Amino acid sequence: MPDVDKPEKGKEFYLDIPAKSTPFFLKGCNSLDWGMKNRLSRIFNPETGKTVMLAIDHGYFQGPTTGLERVDVTILPLLPYADTLMLTRGILRAIIPPAFDRGIVLRASGGPSILNELSNEQIAIDMDEAIRLNVAAMAVQVFIGGKYETQSVHNMTRLVDMGNRYGIPVLGVTAVGKDMARDAKYMRLASRIIAELGVTYVKTYYVPKDFDTVVASCPVPIVIAGGKKIPELDALTMAYNAIQDGAAGVDMGRNIFQSEAPVAMIKAIRKVVHEGTKPKEAYDFFLTEKNKGKNKKKG
Ligand code: R5P
Repeated sequence: MPDVDKPEKGKEFYLDIPAKSTPFFLKGCNSLDWGMKNRLSRIFNPETGKTVMLAIDHGYFQGPTTGLERVDVTILPLLPYADTLMLTRGILRAIIPPAFDRGIVLRASGGPSILNELSNEQIAIDMDEAIRLNVAAMAVQVFIGGKYETQSVHNMTRLVDMGNRYGIPVLGVTAVGKDMARDAKYMRLASRIIAELGVTYVKTYYVPKDFDTVVASCPVPIVIAGGKKIPELDALTMAYNAIQDGAAGVDMGRNIFQSEAPVAMIKAIRKVVHEGTKPKEAYDFFLTEKNKGKNKKKG
């Protein structure tokens, strides 16, 4: 039995100070439960409200993608600069050190390979497995306008129900078929549908014209995918424009791990996303970092 506390000073209830009630920092997320918000704070930086997610889940349908042939060799050096990792449970268990202390966004849908109809996905994980892996969110591909549109929407709504039960956010990924128009009209349609049906946040592609209307009409945060590899200055410009248009960050893969200097590139992307650095300045930073890396190798 501990001694009864008999402080000399009287108790202080600070009756003149109103209780703090701080709105959550992410758009559309204020009504979520504590666990969800805690997990989202492992994905988005509460200081900037933004995230640099490193996407390395490509192998789930395309096998050993260029740059991901040896995740242990090419990706582990990037981990210190990623706010969040987006990946499959296979790579997570096999390669990522459990001491990684930022958010894990787990690929939660799959099925077809590049040899087949990609929209024919199913849910690819059980909820207890996601909990066991202590994930910060689950990601599901949604094929609006695709052959298996309804099935993929149903995958998403089931994951949202399961996620809500256990406090795990769901990232809805707009998957744009090869023959579909990549324009603001489509991105607005797809992003809004998946937000309406319950995802916690949305990943979509950046479109140069009217991307701000995609963000404005989506009630929850949007992050952009990087898409296929383009020159570094163009990728930095795309990230900059997306952030200026209201995106809450990037979920970028190939434009980082296929860069000629991946560490320099992810560091430059961080500057754009978290500091609002202009593309040219971020590119100069990239070149400086790249040369530092070269000199280190020589020495
Ligand atoms: C692709 O289906 C995966 O979901 C990727 O995570 C996503 O496309 C982002 O990677 P990238 O920047 O290479 O497009």
